[in-house]
Amino acid sequence: MSETVLDQPSAFPRLDRQAPDALLGLITLYKRDERPEKVDLGVGVYRDETGLTPIMQAVKAAEARLWQDQATKSYLGAEGDAAYTQLLAQLVFGPAIAASDGLTGVQTPGGTGALRLGAELIARARPDATVWIGTPTWPNHGPIFERAGLRTQLHRFYVPGTSSIDFEGMMADLVHAKPGDILLIHGCCHNPTGADFSEDQWADLVTLCDRSAVIPFIDLAYQGLGDDLDADASATRALLKWLPNALVAYSCDKNFGLYRERVGAFWFKAASPAMAEIARSNLLLLARSLWSMPPDHGAAIVRTILETPELSADWRLELSRMRVRINDLRRALAAGHPALTPIAEQRGMFAMLPISGEAVIALREERGIYMAGNGRINICGLTLSSIDMFLDGLRPYLPNA
Ligand code: LMR
Repeated sequence: MSETVLDQPSAFPRLDRQAPDALLGLITLYKRDERPEKVDLGVGVYRDETGLTPIMQAVKAAEARLWQDQATKSYLGAEGDAAYTQLLAQLVFGPAIAASDGLTGVQTPGGTGALRLGAELIARARPDATVWIGTPTWPNHGPIFERAGLRTQLHRFYVPGTSSIDFEGMMADLVHAKPGDILLIHGCCHNPTGADFSEDQWADLVTLCDRSAVIPFIDLAYQGLGDDLDADASATRALLKWLPNALVAYSCDKNFGLYRERVGAFWFKAASPAMAEIARSNLLLLARSLWSMPPDHGAAIVRTILETPELSADWRLELSRMRVRINDLRRALAAGHPALTPIAEQRGMFAMLPISGEAVIALREERGIYMAGNGRINICGLTLSSIDMFLDGLRPYLPNA
């Protein structure tokens, strides 16, 4: 009966069919491919040398403890697990900033939930703000802010041909930002390029935000997968230290390998404790109408790891092994062709190959090599043994040095 109603074209006249998400669509395309030599460099999940996305040992151990000790699954409230958010704040910001009265945070469903919650907060607080987003970026960034009703504006960030950051172009574009506008920044391990700012460039960004009263919104989804946990958070810490206001979206999906559990957090750094309290009351209200309460299991795992020294030590060790593997692969790729040299210095799971969209399709159809349409590869989809085969397939499409 209800199907008949929905089938009538007039029931929802403004609803058009939408194309499936291109990045997530790669998962299905790859699964359907029957060639044994196929290589998945698509969606950003860590893979080990055997191609698996393992559950980290500390995660398994924390789950066992939860199974044993967790006494209830009753509601926690819109803020989620407060101990999780506090322990995570120490990991992200260090003890001084984490303890400051001006900082307020809540648990969110993944980094996407954190970005959306922040976007909704901005839409309430500063509906006229423009959100400045570097190009290229993670394809979900624009839609998250736009669906919260905010205006977005692209600025220059990266030149694919030279695989380098166009910092001058970026600064020239940001001259047009108004006080109270938002600047979306990848805290480390830029997705999709792997190109992070130098120390001097970070300092210039702090100055720019300070002078123009532009508020940074930092997306930190790969802490620990670049250089190390502290180094990967250092730019975020500097922005929070020197600027009166900042927003931070955090994801534990990659560094704890908890992808499908959706584990994230959002923090707002306010100019005063009173403002932080007001912001918090708004965050709780918004979270209540978006998802009521975030899912608990993943956050309980992270809390258990962070509050248990031996699990923490184990997690840090496994994370550092993952990072070493990624950086070894970076060096091996960079050595494979002069056009790939910058990959050795870039960080995180991704690199953007300097190849055309046609080349991306040809590599998929002819070689079974899957990557995002803009040439982004998930580096850990490679193994030190498959890398030569990958480079052989890639070389004809790379520019001459
Ligand atoms: C990616 O960029 O591949 C990941 O962040 C997965 C996603 O949700 O897009």
